[in-house]
Amino acid sequence: MEKQLGTGIKPGHQNSYWLASTPRSDYAALSGDVKVDVVVVGGGITGLLIADRLKTAGKTVAVLERRRIAESVTGHTTAKITSLHGMELETLARHFHIDEVHQHAMLNQAAVEEFAKLVKSRSIDCDFQRTDAYIYTEDDKTLGDMEREADMAGELGLPVDFVHKTPLGFAVDGAVRAKAQAQFHPRKFLLALAESINGGGSKIYENSSAIRIDDRTATVSTAAGTVQGAAVVIATHYPMRDKGLFISKLYPFMAHAVGLRAGDDILPGIYYTEDEGQRSIRTQATEHGPLLIVGGGHHRSGQMPDELADIRAIESYARARFAAAKTKYFWSTLDYYTADGFPYIGRSPGDDNTFLATGFGGWGMTQSMVAATMIRDLIINKSHPAADMYAPNRLKPTAAMVMGGLNVTEQFVEGFVTEHRHRRPADLAKGEAAVFESDEAPMAAFKDDKGDIHAVRPACTHLKCVVHWNNAELTWDCPCHGSRFTVDGEVIHTPAPGRLKKIFTSDK
Ligand SMILES: Cc1cc2nc3c(=O)[nH]c(=O)nc-3n(C[C@H](O)[C@H](O)[C@H](O)COP(=O)(O)OP(=O)(O)OC[C@H]3O[C@@H](n4cnc5c(N)ncnc54)[C@H](O)[C@@H]3O)c2cc1C
Ligand code: FES
Repeated sequence: MEKQLGTGIKPGHQNSYWLASTPRSDYAALSGDVKVDVVVVGGGITGLLIADRLKTAGKTVAVLERRRIAESVTGHTTAKITSLHGMELETLARHFHIDEVHQHAMLNQAAVEEFAKLVKSRSIDCDFQRTDAYIYTEDDKTLGDMEREADMAGELGLPVDFVHKTPLGFAVDGAVRAKAQAQFHPRKFLLALAESINGGGSKIYENSSAIRIDDRTATVSTAAGTVQGAAVVIATHYPMRDKGLFISKLYPFMAHAVGLRAGDDILPGIYYTEDEGQRSIRTQATEHGPLLIVGGGHHRSGQMPDELADIRAIESYARARFAAAKTKYFWSTLDYYTADGFPYIGRSPGDDNTFLATGFGGWGMTQSMVAATMIRDLIINKSHPAADMYAPNRLKPTAAMVMGGLNVTEQFVEGFVTEHRHRRPADLAKGEAAVFESDEAPMAAFKDDKGDIHAVRPACTHLKCVVHWNNAELTWDCPCHGSRFTVDGEVIHTPAPGRLKKIFTSDK
């Protein structure tokens, strides 16, 4: 039975439809020492696709997952499978040779076909549906840019044209359309895929956090045992071990999704616009009728003063365009962007036997499939035509962008702390939170509905940035590299290696 909101966005009531509509997985934790051909760390879409590709190629694999598979970012996606990644092509052409942009486009288009083949050949029941993808605009000033993007996509070989009408029930000024893209239910797909990975010498281990990788022996250690292979793949979203200076090369951007009931018809198509900061639209068939899923609110993670207002703006956007829409779900997550726009896929910098995939820039469905095929080939055949262009150690002249991003972060954090210099946790209203200075050390405190105060140290356990309050999901979010924590300091999203230090939970 799916758990839904009533109507409206209520702080702390976030619930991803994908999680609400599927059972929780229940794989045992690792205990003892095992050997396989390849160890995959991370059980999101990236880790599971990589494990599947390797197993299909005859390798035995072990997947180590910190919590439960397909729940983290992948459990909070919007699952549009398309090679049309917004208006990226002109930007990419500024950083890369046109042949590389072409190769990137073709790999992502091939990934769409790979999903279709995989779903069909395994008969996976995951609501997979081929449908057209649109980038639309309601702002005629951007039409010129969109026409150029459509021309470029066509020249690069994508199945794209420019149209003035879409199946959306509201008028648009124009849209780039890519034919026969796809959408699916990501957890139905991945839970089925996981079943086929597990067995025959391969195994999925949950509640098994990798704490160390020895590249020389390709051994991954957890608190309860080790897995040794001939190769290791890091698929932990933010790489669990930073030998590639990813702290300055990956930028976490948060976005939200709102699920609404809005009529009885499935809307054909999947949609994305860069109007209003970014919005996306798709529908999903459910036992209660179609669910309209509207995404948006793209911003640097942990740097939005009012996340709740940001989500409510998405809800208003949906209600203005889809009559009588009633909100049933909302959820948020983050994805990492790279400075030059290509993901990092390949050998982990400075390593011989360790590979990684990250930096999908909000388009991790097709890019995780690209990563899976590529890493399989790098491990088995030792080569792939895109190895250099996606190499995690590539250098691009983007230092100015990086410094600018870090500078904004520092100033924001400083302002946030001083704002509360003269207040005390007891002054908080119910449901309110703040970072306080105190005589001993700063404190991040939240007062819950019962009046209990939850107080933790605000220094993120990754690199000590001060966490920021997320008033929609009631979490502490780090503004630097994407770590997230509960009000009591438990880690929701890494790279933080451990919980925020708890100071107290009081009843006043
Ligand atoms: C709101 C939103 C909507 C999106 N919609 C789309 C879309 O429509 N189409 C699209 O293509 N992309 C979309 N994306 C992007 C896409 O969802 C992500 O790129 C993708 O899900 C990332 O998958 P992943 O497997 O790399 O990460 P995750 O799903 O986060 O998986 C990483 C796993 O590693 C585990 N882990 C971490 N550390 C360790 C450790 N030390 N040991 C063991 N396990 C560990 C984590 O618990 C987690 O399960 C969206 C992103 C956002 C933010
Ligand atoms: S995530 Fe890096 S300091 Fe918090």
